[in-house]
Amino acid sequence: MVDMDKIVSLCKRRGFLFQSSEIYGGLGSAWDYGPLGVEFKNNVKHLWWRDNVQLRDDMVGLDAAITMHPRVWEASGHVASFSDPFTGCGDCGRHYRADQIVDAIWNSRWFRAFNKMLEGPAAKKDAWKAIENWAQSEGKKLAPNFPHVSVDDDIRLPLEGADDPKFLQLLRALSENSNSMGFLCPNCGSGKLSPPKPASLMLETFLGPVQETATKTYLRPETAQGIFVNFDNVLQSMRKKLPFGIAQVGKAFRNEITPGNFTFRTREFEQMEIEFFVMPGTDEDWHRKWVDQRFAWYQQYGIRQENIRKRVHEPDELAHYAKGCVDIEYLFPMGWSELEGIANRTDYDLKQHSQHSGRALEYFDEETKQKVVPYVIEPSAGADRSALAFLVDAYREEEVRGEKRVVLNFHPELAPIKIAVLPLLKKNSAIVETAQRLCGDLRKRWHAVYDDTASIGRLYRRQDEVGTPFCVTVDVQTVGDEKSPADEKVTIRDRNTMGQIRVPMSELSAVMDKLMAGQWGEIYREHAINKD
Ligand code: GAP
Repeated sequence: MVDMDKIVSLCKRRGFLFQSSEIYGGLGSAWDYGPLGVEFKNNVKHLWWRDNVQLRDDMVGLDAAITMHPRVWEASGHVASFSDPFTGCGDCGRHYRADQIVDAIWNSRWFRAFNKMLEGPAAKKDAWKAIENWAQSEGKKLAPNFPHVSVDDDIRLPLEGADDPKFLQLLRALSENSNSMGFLCPNCGSGKLSPPKPASLMLETFLGPVQETATKTYLRPETAQGIFVNFDNVLQSMRKKLPFGIAQVGKAFRNEITPGNFTFRTREFEQMEIEFFVMPGTDEDWHRKWVDQRFAWYQQYGIRQENIRKRVHEPDELAHYAKGCVDIEYLFPMGWSELEGIANRTDYDLKQHSQHSGRALEYFDEETKQKVVPYVIEPSAGADRSALAFLVDAYREEEVRGEKRVVLNFHPELAPIKIAVLPLLKKNSAIVETAQRLCGDLRKRWHAVYDDTASIGRLYRRQDEVGTPFCVTVDVQTVGDEKSPADEKVTIRDRNTMGQIRVPMSELSAVMDKLMAGQWGEIYREHAINKD
């Protein structure tokens, strides 16, 4: 598995993502999508929309406002209970999610060094002596507030991971007598962590010139509520019959305590959500169907089977509105983490909004001649997290003729650039004109770029690194010279195999159609030439 630093560095170098406000030192929790990043993320959102809305007749779309009536958030339960437990360090002042502190310590700089020391010969002889020595030497720099410890617990090594019971035992021993939580600060190693307290994740904002209670609302923490409050509008205007769903893609905001892991957890992010309304009693069947469909969707666009799994929520982790929830998890560089949650929200939200607004949110069932409040299945995905998973999964390093080749093995529909048109000689005006004309033609159907800023080998590698599935090269044979007439053919190179084919320019668009549909193998057998 590639480490996150490599992905962050590639994203910056090749124009996928930049840190927000970088020239002012950067805003840690926010990222800006660059020229290739915006194309790529738009592709993720477009494929989600096409597959979940446009290709189904039981789905419609919506684009609701980000700011909503503040009473929406009282009715939804967010004002009262949308919070995470947090703890703060009395020495360095950092804050952490109390329920994620064990992972934070495992991944911290000081614990990585500490753990390495524990596996060394000195610790094998006398662990507590070695710990004391470490605290006086390397630990002074990495964990300056590490408590003075002298405990007789027997530490059995090696530690297998953050969920290893021996790791928890060790942390408890280290922080003995220093705090009630039994953990040390992931930043400075201090034992002065405060007892966990809930922190609201709602980002407040004020509408209008006066900042007072009457003008206070929130930036939406999920797009879902915009759908629930429009349930009746959509039902009446579109004459939908149950079961049907409403989909929405848009920004959401949460005052996360510990944003991090690149775009995995940020305070501003984009969601792709579906609220699928069904007859009560059919909800569990629909829940299963949606879990399977969404699980298959990621694999359809390239996520490898071994990197994705389903995880059923335990009753004590369910959100206040949910009867059941299955997470689709991806093996991100920092470990298995949630990519999408598919919840059975029952009739909770429609009933809450009916009660608080005084407007009935019901469906009239023609068969039974009765009004029912539909149940809701909610597949809720993150656009940024999906994009990150597709990026990580596509990353490959290979050795080609003694040199490292970095490739983003994107599905063609996800690739930010579909075709690069490259002139073999940029001083030959016939070649340049032909390449530019071809690029102009291809652009009408696909996102194509023209590039003549380096040698052909470097241009190929650059396109590999941003995941462009096909390069089209125009050379002397294409346009002819005084020795031989033009053959009117161009070379197409495939990113994954580096195989090359030669096809007439007049057939380029038709061949590209087949290549984009995944038919490289067949076309290659017919038109193959050598590799680059
Ligand atoms: N309406 C249900 C809901 O919002 P959630 O599990 O809190 O459920 C759904 O969020 C998805 O939104 C997550 O699976 C994740 O992909 C994305 N998401 C949530 N919080 C995020 C954050 N702070 N940064 C980036 N993506 C986030």
